[in-house]
Amino acid sequence: MSKARILIVEDEWIIATNLSSTLEDLGYEVTSVVLSGEDAIKHAEAERPTLVLMDITLRGQMDGVAAADAIKELYDIPVVYLTSNTDEATFERVKDSESFGYIIKPFEKMELKYAIEMAVYKHKMENVVKEKTRQLEELNKNLEIRVKEEIEKGLQKEHLLIHQSKLVSMGEMMVAISHQWRQPLNVIGLLVQDLEEAFEFGEISKKYVTEMTRDSMAQLNLMSKTITDFRDFFKPSGEKSHFSVKAAIQECISLIKLQYENNQIYIDFVAQNVNVGARALSDSPRISEITIFSYPEEYKQVLLNLIINARDAIREKRRRDFFSMGYRGEISISLTDQRDSVVVEVKDNGPGISAGVIDRVFEPYFTTKEDGIGIGLYMSKIIIENHMGGKLYVASSESGAKFTVEIMK
Ligand SMILES: Nc1ncnc2c1ncn2[C@@H]1O[C@H](COP(=O)(O)OP(=O)(O)OP(=O)(O)O)[C@@H](O)[C@H]1O
Ligand SMILES: [Mg+2]
Repeated sequence: MSKARILIVEDEWIIATNLSSTLEDLGYEVTSVVLSGEDAIKHAEAERPTLVLMDITLRGQMDGVAAADAIKELYDIPVVYLTSNTDEATFERVKDSESFGYIIKPFEKMELKYAIEMAVYKHKMENVVKEKTRQLEELNKNLEIRVKEEIEKGLQKEHLLIHQSKLVSMGEMMVAISHQWRQPLNVIGLLVQDLEEAFEFGEISKKYVTEMTRDSMAQLNLMSKTITDFRDFFKPSGEKSHFSVKAAIQECISLIKLQYENNQIYIDFVAQNVNVGARALSDSPRISEITIFSYPEEYKQVLLNLIINARDAIREKRRRDFFSMGYRGEISISLTDQRDSVVVEVKDNGPGISAGVIDRVFEPYFTTKEDGIGIGLYMSKIIIENHMGGKLYVASSESGAKFTVEIMK
């Protein structure tokens, strides 16, 4: 250890000189000897000693305690008091000031040495603790920033996924639209061919034109309605609102029904109200009135994800199992009005989900499909559980998979 450099503040010359030679005997370096508190501060600034030995009663305006507090505060130098003045009041002031110890005059050489060593050690430890505290605070601050960054990243990922899963369903919707349009396009095609023939055979009359216009317009309106349905379905999800769960399910079904039936997949929808017994009440006005206060677009998005997965499962069973090649696909949707919640189940007669897979289906990017992304169920869970405070879970048996969406009223 390099030897401590000590500033002596003592207004009695004889004591100061003795002290100075004792310190040098002990191997310390004395930087200066000063008589007043004001000088002590000046010398502490200029010499930056390791420690100050401070008499309490001094000449000048300032006493030792005031000078010691200033030196500690301004230059972070520890002070040990030297005093013969041991009255209660002084002792209290010394205790209140951030003292590093004190020695009562007259003292032994070794007492002085221990007091100095203790003070230097205490000061060093105090600085270690301060530094560690500063490091901890910095670490804490960095941690806070990291946590914020990670949350922000998570949110961005969630937004990206919502967008991706919307695009996937948009692709699905385009297919649905083209199915819906095939029929009216055929009819319009026939009408146009007929126009050419009618012209050749001189059959075009006022009546003919009126009928032709009416029939064409009917088909065009049908096509336009498909576009409107499609657009309404994908209205950017905005505010929470009260919406009918039954209507939401019916909208989903009407968008895909035709396309699915072309593939021998039939959707069955039953609504029931457990509050009036478990009877099928699909046309009961009561069930239509069941509304939830939430995000209708996101809710429909989830239902659509579940229906699309059910369709994929049925296709997969046909592909996998020779004997199931042309079997009738069935997707059963049920809406149950419970006392506190509205429960929708989407059940299919596909192959079901095997034990090794069922625990993973809600993981992001988990897919067993060649062209799957694996975000449909992950997104659906986030929407139902994080955005809507509900529950989404799955059960599976040999007869197929069943997904349940539960929203609190
Ligand atoms: N009804 C179901 N029957 C059997 N397996 C299912 C069913 N629904 C989901 N799965 C399984 O869960 C996996 C994850 O489904 P998820 O909807 O998250 O992704 P995906 O359908 O594979 O891809 P995408 O991102 O296009 O939706 C599927 O790959 C499939 O293995
Ligand atoms: Mg999916």
